[in-house]
Amino acid sequence: MSHRRSSIAAGIFALAVLGGAGAGAAAAEQAATGAAPETAGATPGGGIEAKAQVCFTCHGPKGASTNEKYPVIGGQQQYYLYLQLKDFKAGRRENAEMQPIMAALATEDLMPLAEYFSQQRWPSLSVRVDPAKVQAGEASANAGECSQCHLGGYNGASSVPRLAGQHLAYLQKTMLDFKSKARNNQPAMSALMAVFSDEDIAGLAQYLASLTVQEQPGAVEIQ
Ligand code: HEC
Ligand code: HEC
Repeated sequence: MSHRRSSIAAGIFALAVLGGAGAGAAAAEQAATGAAPETAGATPGGGIEAKAQVCFTCHGPKGASTNEKYPVIGGQQQYYLYLQLKDFKAGRRENAEMQPIMAALATEDLMPLAEYFSQQRWPSLSVRVDPAKVQAGEASANAGECSQCHLGGYNGASSVPRLAGQHLAYLQKTMLDFKSKARNNQPAMSALMAVFSDEDIAGLAQYLASLTVQEQPGAVEIQ
């Protein structure tokens, strides 16, 4: 535990060093990577992959989280990711683990990070679900017309997140957070969740987590 905590602290420190001097440093870094042929193996985008490393500590390599406490972010919709990062940074979405990380990043880093993670492959997670609950969840999803915004296959688009194949425990927690307004950055989702019982929400999480992952057109060619 203390090792884990100190490696996260080290990551935050590294972010502060990478991003600390703000746009000037980022531009210099970008210029340096662009100009030096010996860094050809490095990722374009001003070292955004280096900054993404600290995210891997919790969200898994390239955002392909295998720990159900941490949402998958690799392959999530870019604009949705960007809005969440902005909301954590501004304190509109509260989380004790995310907020210190965001405080160490410059605003200019948020879109490149969102772009980087959106281009990764969504992992195939094996999830154990209860068929009866999945069925109840599907009925709730149809009644709530969730696919009107989250779209067919629950892949989302732009600022609407993909839900298909997200971690069950995370989905359930975040829907309960919308309902209680512990997550208060989207009034429409809070209003919608208020009409569902906690049991309905458990079913919705089971249904959404059980959905087969569909490749996003934009993500297919990324290795
Ligand atoms: C110390 C662990 C930790 C680290 C490091 C971390 N995160 Fe998170 N992140 C979390 C937790 C926990 C949540 C879920 C918060 C909640 O339940 O509301 C989260 C949520 C998110 C979300 C919202 C996902 C969604 O589906 O709504 C995004 C986006 C995100 N993190 C991006 C990042 C990025 C980018 C980095 C690196 C710059 C990062 N995180 C580093 C713990 C972490
Ligand atoms: C009117 C459009 C709309 C409808 C209908 C809708 N959603 Fe959403 N949903 C959103 C938007 C927009 C967000 C992103 C909120 C944000 O920016 O924080 C979201 C976020 C979510 C999230 C958070 C995902 C994450 O990664 O943290 C879950 C879970 C979710 N919706 C489930 C549902 C379910 C279940 C239904 C149906 C009962 C539903 N939504 C119906 C627009 C909608």
